[in-house]
Amino acid sequence: MSKQRVLSGMRPTGRLHIGHYHGALKNWVRLQEEKECFFFVADWHALTTAYDDVQVIENSVWDMVIDWLAAGVDPEKASIFIQSRLPQHAELHLLMSMMTPLGWLERIPTYKDQQEKLSNKDLSTYGFLGYPLLMSADILLYRAAGVPVGEDQVPHVEFTRELARRFNHLYGREPGFEDKAKAALKKLGGKRDKLFMELRQRFQQEGDRAALEEGRALIAQSQSLGTADRERLYGYLDGSGKQILVEPEAWLTEASRVVGLDGQKMSKSYGNTVMMREEPEALAKKIKTMPTDTNRVRRTDPGEPERCPVWQLHQVYSTPETREWVQTGCRSAGIGCIECKQPVIEGMMAEQAPMHERAMRYIENPKLVREVVEHGCERARVVAEETMADVRAAMGLAYR
Ligand code: TRP
Ligand code: SF4
Repeated sequence: MSKQRVLSGMRPTGRLHIGHYHGALKNWVRLQEEKECFFFVADWHALTTAYDDVQVIENSVWDMVIDWLAAGVDPEKASIFIQSRLPQHAELHLLMSMMTPLGWLERIPTYKDQQEKLSNKDLSTYGFLGYPLLMSADILLYRAAGVPVGEDQVPHVEFTRELARRFNHLYGREPGFEDKAKAALKKLGGKRDKLFMELRQRFQQEGDRAALEEGRALIAQSQSLGTADRERLYGYLDGSGKQILVEPEAWLTEASRVVGLDGQKMSKSYGNTVMMREEPEALAKKIKTMPTDTNRVRRTDPGEPERCPVWQLHQVYSTPETREWVQTGCRSAGIGCIECKQPVIEGMMAEQAPMHERAMRYIENPKLVREVVEHGCERARVVAEETMADVRAAMGLAYR
């Protein structure tokens, strides 16, 4: 059986911090082992808010991709690409804009929120309103089964599902569907086409669910079918026609939230970050100057870990024994804050050592990063073109 396809993207923001690592990249690295993964740089998305600040984007792209590789995203297993290298994203965005109700876009919670949050910028633009639609096109273009995202992006995936449903409803039956389904049936081989027709009839005429399940299993097990034919047969079996776009699921990243150095959410704009590839001395200094429980003025004052951002980092970086040592030592003033911070520094350094190592060859040889992306673009293009061929045909634009 073919692997489930997964797609996720990030806006190019330059070098990444450990919040990105624990919040997204660690999950990507895990997913690439079992899924067919596509990870892309959402450079057009960056333009939806940074349209007046285009210089930052280019360098940010390469720095960010190096951090993905440093985290362990493996270009042999996952495809890494850049959105703007594949005009199919724009084409699908445009075609879907024809059938996207304005109200759906206006209702997405991030629309008003972001406009208010970034009030220093005029975001009453066409591109900004359409940004969730662009994200939908990104996802639907790859017929992704799963989209690993943070909580803030879940409404966008929900919106994508609704759009896919609407699209399939409007255009779901490709021209010549019956003939193509029958041709696909022949590829099943053996006497399986006969069995398929029997099961189909039992489901469609007698409503026999067991026959439907059996039919689906028959399709799933077949080695000789491509994606398009497989989908045709599913649609032929249950009578729904061909599903052109696939409804994706949001896969929430259950991530340990890494707090920033000041205890707030880690973010470049708050200046409270630890980068993924921090110089060891700089890293140590950042942790050593971190604020702790403000009630602990003197070394002899007992402290309370719950009121201390260092404790939150222990929860990500320390073993249960060390955490126990912190809890007891802090509350009894048995340990000092400098002492307490040491295991966090060591934990971070241990995490970052392999990242520095993996990044080295790409920093020394920038051509290598370009090659990784080139290769990823090629693989992405195959899938994107396959979908677009179906979409164009479904919308009457094939001109054969
Ligand atoms: N919108 C996402 C963000 O701002 C980035 C993104 C764009 C994305 N297209 C995507 C994420 C498709 C997942 C899938 O973080
Ligand atoms: Fe924070 Fe540790 Fe100091 Fe307690 S001992 S206040 S947990 S740094």
